[in-house]
Amino acid sequence: MSAVTAEATEQMARRWCEKILHSGARQAAEIQVDRAICDLTAEIIGRAAFGTSHQEASEVLVLMHEMQKMGAAAMLDGPILWHLPTRRNLTVRRLDKLLRSKITAMMAARVAAANCGGGYGDDLLGLLLEAWSPEPERQAGSDDDEGTTTTLTTGEVIDECKTFFGAGQETTATLLVWTVFLLSTHPQWQDKVREEVLREFPGGDGDVPNSDTLSRLKLLHIVLLETLRLYPPIVYIQRTTASDAVLRGIEVPGGTVISIPIGLLQRDREVWGSDADEFNPLRFSNGVARAAMDPHALLSFSLGPRACTGKSFGIIEAQIVMAVILRKFTFSLSPTYVHKPKYVVSLTPKCGMPLIFKSLHG
Ligand code: HEM
Repeated sequence: MSAVTAEATEQMARRWCEKILHSGARQAAEIQVDRAICDLTAEIIGRAAFGTSHQEASEVLVLMHEMQKMGAAAMLDGPILWHLPTRRNLTVRRLDKLLRSKITAMMAARVAAANCGGGYGDDLLGLLLEAWSPEPERQAGSDDDEGTTTTLTTGEVIDECKTFFGAGQETTATLLVWTVFLLSTHPQWQDKVREEVLREFPGGDGDVPNSDTLSRLKLLHIVLLETLRLYPPIVYIQRTTASDAVLRGIEVPGGTVISIPIGLLQRDREVWGSDADEFNPLRFSNGVARAAMDPHALLSFSLGPRACTGKSFGIIEAQIVMAVILRKFTFSLSPTYVHKPKYVVSLTPKCGMPLIFKSLHG
């Protein structure tokens, strides 16, 4: 996955270099970073989920990406419209049908390969197939005698693939977009983190940082944590109380839906101090638990048994992408940038994120 991330980011960087090269005497180019990064994270999660070898994999990726965009637009409609035969809903149904048939075809190809002695593959689809049972009668998500779900139906495998793509693509893209934004508005931090990257990860194109290298990129790590605090990709989550409960003296009946406003809580001055609205990565210097009054104050990946499954995946991906970008470019806000964060599926810049990139190597 690290190699895939580094390779896809290098390819994106090469496209940016070309753009800079053809931009005339200024040796700088304006890049719509939000769009570029959205495509990048789609490619990375797609390859991690479905591998790199199938033609179908890239077709599935395109379909998933389309569905993701339609899903984001549908969030604005509200639930009543979701069931009407609007043009968008009909398109979503058509895309979903096509997507399901393509993933089913990929599954069949993997099963055929496994029957000839190969494995299912070490990507997400391969791992899900290890838990898949082809029998048609079983109800989706049914339990065995001990009450533990042991097998997945074809529909569940497909749904898991969609969940991982949906949960892992836009979230990581959002983290990256606000990271480049904050490093553009805090150039001294951009310089410091770049120095660290060049010192700890000096290799050339094609080099992939290993876990040892990533653990030495401490400034980059605290910058990512501070970005997650100020601009959490998921701004709020909800939980339903399983039974009657008393929360800090407040009686909450079972079945109550509670909204947890991550974005607001992470800027609470009582918890984070008087500089809660400011960009200060150093607050994380002694670890996440010591950054605030409460050791569990950073909620960006949620907490507890339903916390983010892809936390490490997302952080490692963001570290590698940022390391590659920082090694090659300096960047600053474009004069056309308008600051309007908008929350739909995740916290995105409503008017886009145009940045001016300059190549570090002429
Ligand atoms: C910076 C990146 C990410 C952030 C901020 C993030 C945040 C979150 C949050 C807040 C939740 C809990 C949602 C809820 O309870 O309603 C969640 C769940 C989840 N995330 Fe992430 N996520 C990120 C990246 C990823 C990636 C890369 C993957 C997959 C590779 C992923 C897979 C999932 C899955 C499968 C769940 C559902 C877990 C469950 O319900 O048991 N996430 N994520």
